[in-house]
Order: sequence, then structure tokens, then C-alpha cells
Amino acid sequence: MKKYLVIGNPIGHSLSPLIHNYWMKKYHLIDSVYEKKKVEKKDLIGIVDQVRSGEIKGVNITVPYKKEIIPLLDEIKGDAQLTQSVNTLCKVNNEVHGYNTDTKGFKYSLDDSHLPNNLEYNFIDCKNKNIFIIGAGGVTSSILEAFIDTANKIYITNRTKEKAKELKKLGDISITLLGRKKNTIEVVEWGEKPEICDVVINTTSVGLTRDENLNLDFKDYQNNKNTLFYDLIYNPKETKFLKEARLRGNKTMNGKMMFIWQAQIAFHMWTGVEAEIDGDVIKLLNND
Ligand code: ATR
Repeated sequence: MKKYLVIGNPIGHSLSPLIHNYWMKKYHLIDSVYEKKKVEKKDLIGIVDQVRSGEIKGVNITVPYKKEIIPLLDEIKGDAQLTQSVNTLCKVNNEVHGYNTDTKGFKYSLDDSHLPNNLEYNFIDCKNKNIFIIGAGGVTSSILEAFIDTANKIYITNRTKEKAKELKKLGDISITLLGRKKNTIEVVEWGEKPEICDVVINTTSVGLTRDENLNLDFKDYQNNKNTLFYDLIYNPKETKFLKEARLRGNKTMNGKMMFIWQAQIAFHMWTGVEAEIDGDVIKLLNND
């Protein structure tokens, strides 16, 4: 039996087993099973050892361990290095390597060359656009990284300003590596707004509980049909942040496609199977 896991704390809400087991069945990987496991920090080393020994074939990491897992790994690669966030573990030549599939998953959710067949979607070309990122939590570095090579300007705001500043520091490393202009990333005070942006994205946990509100004022976006309001939350399907944007006439998108793409990329790394993203898999994750 090939065993796969998603680990985190809490973990009850995770839909990763649903999507991975669906694909395992669809692609006849009958000797594979994907489970969720709530773990404490002290358990992480044992999980890494089980990947090294082959007892576990692949692991997804979720909140709050995407950063904490890093010192326990033999190597981290690509976007995981740039974001200091690991959501996927693989065994490579007796070593355990950490990868980040969130950044690419997010990029694909905005890219029309990754358009699932016959599905309508609010794609947006982010090249040379102005981006406003709200939040500086565990997932935000993955979102920031997705915009760094193409955006014109990236504004970040967070209730705790210090965390936004830390994130800018991390992003500025990529900015330097890419030779982009030094002031691409700017921290904005919580409650203040930058110029009108092309994408406004909520990466905070506000909205997970129905009708929770960020209390940020987006009146300037009234009837703005060009700006995309993106919420990483997909359950509930439409947070207050997105509902208000829709009522203002803005474009909206929730985090479902990002979730599907990050899973699809991890699944491919582990199994070599390029799972198709179609209406059925999207329907599988419909929650309301
Ligand atoms: P995670 O790793 O799950 O993302 P986190 O690191 O605690 O969790 O980040 C949660 C994000 O939601 C943070 O940006 C947090 O802001 P702070 O850094 O100030 O805590 C944000 N957040 C949570 N509750 C919030 C609230 N009521 N108002 C504004 N931001 C909030």
C-alpha cells in the first residue's frame, strides 16, 4: 500500500483527502491511499523519517507547519526556498525534499492557458499590474512570490505591521535575484489604501466564519469592472469580502482553483500522473 498524508493542526477541515483519493481512484492507483492526520510539532520529525524510510510516499503540509518543517528536511527547492514555505514532501534518492506547490497553484488559477475545458472563469493577466495583498500569514509569502516576477507594484497590508515588513524583506530577496526595481513591494498601514489596484487579494483568515468582515473600506472601487477581488478562502464559497466586491460590480474569485491546482501539481510529483482538472473535480469541492 502506498500511503500519503496531509498533516496540520487543526486538520478536520482539509479537503486534500477528498481530491487526492478521487484522482487515485480515477487513475486506477488502487494500491494508494491518502489520509489526514492531526499532528503536534514534536511529531514532525517522525513523519519526515517515515518519508525517508518509504513508509509514507508523499506528504502535504498545512497550517501551522509549512515553515516549521523546513529545518527537518534535507533540502528545499525552488519556490519553497523563495517563500520559506513547504507544502509538499517527496523522497528523492534517500533524502526528503520540500517543495511549494501553492505559488504555482495560485499562478495557474489566474492564467488562461490553464483554463479547464468549458468552464467560465475570471482570468486576469497580472503583468505590469498593481496588486494589493491583505494579510501576512502563513500562506501570504506564496502569493507574494507569484506576483514578484511580473507585477508593476505590490502593496502589502497587515493588522500586525511587523509581519508585513518581514514579508517585504523576504520578497525583496527575490526582487534582487530577479533584478527588478527595488521599490516594487511597499508596506501600507492597516486601514489605509494604496492607489486603485488591478487585483486585491485577501490572504487573511477573516471570512472563514460566515459574515466576518475585514472592515477595510473599498468604496473607491464602486462600479470598477476591471479590478479582481480574490479571496483565498473557498469555504464559504463567497465571503463577505467577495460578496461586497460583487455588489460593487468588481470581478471576484475564490480560492478553489488555487487549491485544486496545488493538489494537482503535488499529485503529479508523487505519481507521475497529470490529473485532469474538469467539471467533475470542481463539483467535488462545491460546498454550498
Ligand atoms: P496562518 O498561518 O493560518 O495564515 P496566521 O499566520 O496567524 O495564520 O495568519 C493569519 C492572517 O490573518 C494574518 O495576516 C492575521 O493578521 P495578524 O498578523 O495581525 O494576526 C490575519 N488576521 C486574523 N484575524 C484577523 C482580524 N480579525 N483582522 C485582521 N486580520 C486578521
